[in-house]
Amino acid sequence: MTSQSSTAFAPASIGNVGVGFDVLGLAIAGAGDRVTVSRSDNAGIAITSIRTSDGEELTDLSRDADKNTASIAAAALWQAQGGEGGLTIDIEKGVPLQSGMGSSAASAVAGVVATNALLDVPLPTEALLDYAIEGEAFASGGRHADNVAPSLLGGLVLCPPGLDAVRLPTPDTVASVLVHPELRVNTAESRAGLSATVTREQWIRQQGLLAGFVTATFSGDLSLMRRSLKDLIIEPQRAPSVSCFESVSRAAIEAGAIGCSLSGSGPSIFALIENEQAERLASAMVDACEAQGIDCQSWISPLSSPGAALED
Ligand code: HSE
Repeated sequence: MTSQSSTAFAPASIGNVGVGFDVLGLAIAGAGDRVTVSRSDNAGIAITSIRTSDGEELTDLSRDADKNTASIAAAALWQAQGGEGGLTIDIEKGVPLQSGMGSSAASAVAGVVATNALLDVPLPTEALLDYAIEGEAFASGGRHADNVAPSLLGGLVLCPPGLDAVRLPTPDTVASVLVHPELRVNTAESRAGLSATVTREQWIRQQGLLAGFVTATFSGDLSLMRRSLKDLIIEPQRAPSVSCFESVSRAAIEAGAIGCSLSGSGPSIFALIENEQAERLASAMVDACEAQGIDCQSWISPLSSPGAALED
């Protein structure tokens, strides 16, 4: 007998990972969204509730199923796979909104993973990516997989358009530190504000850095990773809109970070660091943020953090 209801958890993620705009993403541990999808006697797809992890009703997001990433992604999968009958969706948001932590992607991924479990013949995990991107595209105004792919698959994922998403090897001696300042950045607006062109020189240098970073993940050469983890094109355009970026990133580099940049479109800021220095780095970044009068939260995660999973 097929299930009547299914719940999935999907983690937050670091889009771009500094060096790979739109094509590289990293899952984090300790923050994520939970979506429950249930069969319904009523036709169509309806959102029943949107709450915080503390159970409080969240009023910032629309209940319109055509305007929510979880329901858009769930509907795309359900309809494409011939799911019969309607669905209701309950969303628990653990990822702060407009945080640069892949909040919309986490909902989309949890939505498709939960919906998939209600299909007579569930699809393999990798096949859910395109449906999750449908939801993400609504929120961010672009079809990029650098949040949905790591949230779905876990770990560090290379996900260029037109190619299969690939989980890269991750040195287990390295952790990510993510700091979320209590600010908001609208990803769609941020993307719309980016320059549409790059110079040949910028393109040559940035593709070299991305190739260097990917090579370092395979070889475990942290010196190469340190020299490669840079964003010469996007970060300079976005950093001025995150008032604490300069101080937090300076503190991270002074504390020995392998690299530091905006997480997605910001305001969150991430750094990579050897495991034993991660706590000290997180404190340095948090102190620098709070010194600017901005409260923040931080997370430390292994680079191999798990992707989305069904829950009982
Ligand atoms: N790659 C996207 C961007 C991620 O930077 O706009 C958004 O979280």
